[in-house]
Amino acid sequence: MRMVDLIARKRDGLPLTREEIDWLIAGYSDGTIPDYQMSAWAMAVLLRGMDDRETADLTLAMAQSGDMLDLHDLAPITVDKHSTGGIGDKTTLVLGPMVAALGLPVAKMSGRGLGFSGGTIDKLESIPGFQTTLDGATFRRLVREVGLAVVAQSGDLAPADKRLYALRDVTATVESMPLIAASVMSKKLAAGADCIVLDVKYGSGAFMRTLGEARHLAQIMVKIGQLAGRRVAAVLSSMQQPLGQAVGNALEVREAIAVLRGGGPPDLVELCLVLGSELVVLAGLTQEPDEARAMLQATLANGSAWAKFHAMVSHQGGDVRVIEQPDLLPVAPVQQPLVAPCTGYVATIDGMALGLAVNALGGGRARKEDLIDPAVGLMIQARVGDLVEAGHPLLTIHAADESAAAQVAPALLAAYRFSDQPVAPPALVEAILR
Ligand code: URA
Repeated sequence: MRMVDLIARKRDGLPLTREEIDWLIAGYSDGTIPDYQMSAWAMAVLLRGMDDRETADLTLAMAQSGDMLDLHDLAPITVDKHSTGGIGDKTTLVLGPMVAALGLPVAKMSGRGLGFSGGTIDKLESIPGFQTTLDGATFRRLVREVGLAVVAQSGDLAPADKRLYALRDVTATVESMPLIAASVMSKKLAAGADCIVLDVKYGSGAFMRTLGEARHLAQIMVKIGQLAGRRVAAVLSSMQQPLGQAVGNALEVREAIAVLRGGGPPDLVELCLVLGSELVVLAGLTQEPDEARAMLQATLANGSAWAKFHAMVSHQGGDVRVIEQPDLLPVAPVQQPLVAPCTGYVATIDGMALGLAVNALGGGRARKEDLIDPAVGLMIQARVGDLVEAGHPLLTIHAADESAAAQVAPALLAAYRFSDQPVAPPALVEAILR
């Protein structure tokens, strides 16, 4: 087989066979297929799509490109959650500890920033010392000892996704339904959890712009998970505005800590309760979502979720003083308000524009080898439906210097649309597929 022929077939909108997909992923994993050919192929997939059979084959090939963990010697049931990516999405940092505090071991493999959205691994690395690259044996040990581990893909687990994910980040090939489905589900299958909740986001701050596209993505991922013998549910949640107030790595860690300590923004708390309730029900702790919600709320109120987060940070080498006193997290030298140009109701917020602005501030990558600045980001003050007065802050830009803040300000202003009529805020959760 020749990679150039497979690229051409995809370019022409033809399906690839399972053997061809296996060959392609094996070649990319062992380095015989170079990044430039894989980039061309990923762009062809983005433009021409893949059918559901190809998507399932791609998922399995990527999952099997490394070790497939079996965690049943550690616990009868382990749980995992994954988001398809959004602006200000720090749910893993809150939900993982909440669920672990109920005695459900969480074995989570997360990603770095992708396209205009942030990634859990970059967020956690804003805690000095926090180790995200752990081998399979250490991952297992932490799941057993702490009940919670959040790791980046090592060379052992779904390495094909690790390479392709980094490539898609910088080749404008993120927004593809089959590539997202295969990326998410290959990691989930390789990491070995029995129960998986997928947070499938739609809207201007998500890779799926419409509810219909998100629903299709959710259906494919649920089906792939079930075919692999896992219990899976998908929550369709809104990205018509950022989740919570913080967008940017260290800012989001600070906000997650606020929730774990009993405060934080209500939408973030609510989404964690919805996703968490699905996991608790899937894992069989109760049949009743309302009871699951009450159990999860108790983990925030009684400090047990915070204790799990603390233990995870400590066991993964992070400096716990920094999470105990979040003011020690990296802070950007410049904090500049962006004010409303007119009085009106906030009608829409373009999440992608916000995410791109955070990248431009240094919070994301333009090339694979780029280092990111954990301190930069945005704190959102005006949300959809809010009435703002001219001259009052919409958000605060956290930047490395004043010129960086000034450069992103026009795009941020253009991200807000106003109305002189009251606007109803979008629903946070649209549907749950079980
Ligand atoms: N999360 C992933 O792990 N992969 C994607 O492609 C998108 C979100």
